[in-house]
Amino acid sequence: MGKNDVTRIGLIGYGQIGAAVHGLIDANPAGGMEVVFIHDQDPSRLADVESDLALEDLGDFDSRSPDLVVEMAHPAVTREWGAAILQKTNYMFISVTALADAELESLLEETTREYGTRAFVPHGGVVGMDALLENRDVWESVDVVMKKNPKNVDCAAAGIDADSITEETCLYDGPTRGICPKFPRNVNTHAAIAYAGIGFDRTHSLLLVNPEWSDATIAIHARGPGLDLHVERVEGITGVTGASTPVSIYNTVQMIGSTGPGIHLR
Ligand SMILES: NC(=O)c1ccc[n+]([C@@H]2O[C@H](COP(=O)([O-])OP(=O)(O)OC[C@H]3O[C@@H](n4cnc5c(N)ncnc54)[C@H](O)[C@@H]3O)[C@@H](O)[C@H]2O)c1
Repeated sequence: MGKNDVTRIGLIGYGQIGAAVHGLIDANPAGGMEVVFIHDQDPSRLADVESDLALEDLGDFDSRSPDLVVEMAHPAVTREWGAAILQKTNYMFISVTALADAELESLLEETTREYGTRAFVPHGGVVGMDALLENRDVWESVDVVMKKNPKNVDCAAAGIDADSITEETCLYDGPTRGICPKFPRNVNTHAAIAYAGIGFDRTHSLLLVNPEWSDATIAIHARGPGLDLHVERVEGITGVTGASTPVSIYNTVQMIGSTGPGIHLR
């Protein structure tokens, strides 16, 4: 990914975020990035994609020589493919709940060391991840409060029927490590906050739902000696993804992969 090189990018997951990131990369040819494959477990999602870009079997990813593979599908992809990808190339995964599995976290770490590759976690829906990370030795507590309409929460893994919820209900109150396997598609922000800050066991997560809420709210309260951080964002949501996420993910892809000119914000 040096000067004047074009960074070859493989995309996994072609839903709301994947399709938006593809469009944004293509819309900026001067950015020095090129999409070299797109994989989705549901081939019908790729109906509008140029046929030479579609990669049917993810096991063939290395045949396209990607410099960076970006997961925008499901945490299961990192469980199944994370180490295999990192043996060959760099990997960014946005389904950050995968990291709540401590064994998987170690495997990814060790693979990058052994093979000299790099794994990346985007800030995604987390406003202030830089401040959480830079002060991770200062925080005594980090609390995450998420509020959503139950229809925007995939309750399948938790065995909860979202349609039966008629009033404000607390779906989870406890350490962040425990919320990730229960709501793997919904709490990536919790996972990224935990990973950046004081870890999955010390970060506290609350998930509240109410059928009367239409927007999604995420609030972070981090406290330490002489330092308090309070961030709250309220935004529209489609499916499991907040309105600002697709461009945020694209921005991180270009922070990692762009070799184009310009003044770059870090
Ligand atoms: N980091 C963040 O801040 C953040 C924010 C929002 C969403 N996410 C996560 O990003 C992912 C994508 O979100 P979205 O809104 O685009 O979802 P989406 O449902 O619109 O699209 C997901 C796509 O991935 C495909 N897919 C699912 N499992 C797969 C697998 N095992 N292998 C290959 N393809 C698979 C689906 O067929 C679908 O096309 C989700 O895991 C979501 O939880 C992360």
